[in-house]
Amino acid sequence: MNDPTEFLKKASRFLQQQRDMYGDFSVQLDQKSKKNTAQVNEQDVSYKPESHSQQLHEISQDKKMEVEVQKSPEELIAECTTLDELKDLCEQAEELKTDLEGTNLVFGVGNPNADLMIVGEAPGYNEDQQGEPFVGQAGQLLDKIMAAINFERSDIYIANILKHRPPDNRDPEPEERQRSLPYLLKQIELIDPKLILCVGRISATTLLEKETSLGKLRGSFHEFHGRELMVTYHPAALLYNQKYKRPTWEDVQLVRKRYDELGGQP
Ligand code: URA
Ligand code: URA
Repeated sequence: MNDPTEFLKKASRFLQQQRDMYGDFSVQLDQKSKKNTAQVNEQDVSYKPESHSQQLHEISQDKKMEVEVQKSPEELIAECTTLDELKDLCEQAEELKTDLEGTNLVFGVGNPNADLMIVGEAPGYNEDQQGEPFVGQAGQLLDKIMAAINFERSDIYIANILKHRPPDNRDPEPEERQRSLPYLLKQIELIDPKLILCVGRISATTLLEKETSLGKLRGSFHEFHGRELMVTYHPAALLYNQKYKRPTWEDVQLVRKRYDELGGQP
């Protein structure tokens, strides 16, 4: 075999035979990277079952991060055992974002063991800037309302249905609310308050899953996942309409009374 041409011909024939028998590996690899895992699995298992399942095993051993990415939001939420872990998860969660780009996470603020939790609607401009709920004008009024029933902001926990600001402060859409809800439910579970106060229609109808007017929902306690929930007007509504002040005052008085009856701390 001194003739290089003859050698190349033989080598080329050999490679062709290999390809005929085993397929073109380099081409297959390219295809593989473009397909989703499920499709590739089926294909490869019928092709070379043993080596493939071994390969899969090695991948799942080596690339734990990749495997985690494939977990559903529900699974990831269920794994959170602290508020910090849930907050980290929220930082990563694209599904919590609205179509307003570049917003900050507004996770929630206050006493992580609060017996009273307040749930608003969604962050506005100031909340987005500061990463904290209810810090604008409505928030200042909320602080005053709470002070009137002897709560400091640091006694309670405050969060919103949405954890990112919607564009133009529009109402959160039903689909946005549903995407955010599992995170909020987990947050409620971790804080474990005795009472929840929903401020505004969006908050109340999302948590109670009832599309009813605020007037019909306020004024009495609702059962909510083994807790008690009160609904009242949104402080922003009070800023514009005096007539909401009196019923709001009545609602929060009921909240304070029930809180004390239930042995709420502090
Ligand atoms: N309105 C809300 O509902 N939430 C906030 O955080 C601020 C204003
Ligand atoms: N209507 C609402 O939907 N919310 C309020 O807080 C007040 C009026």
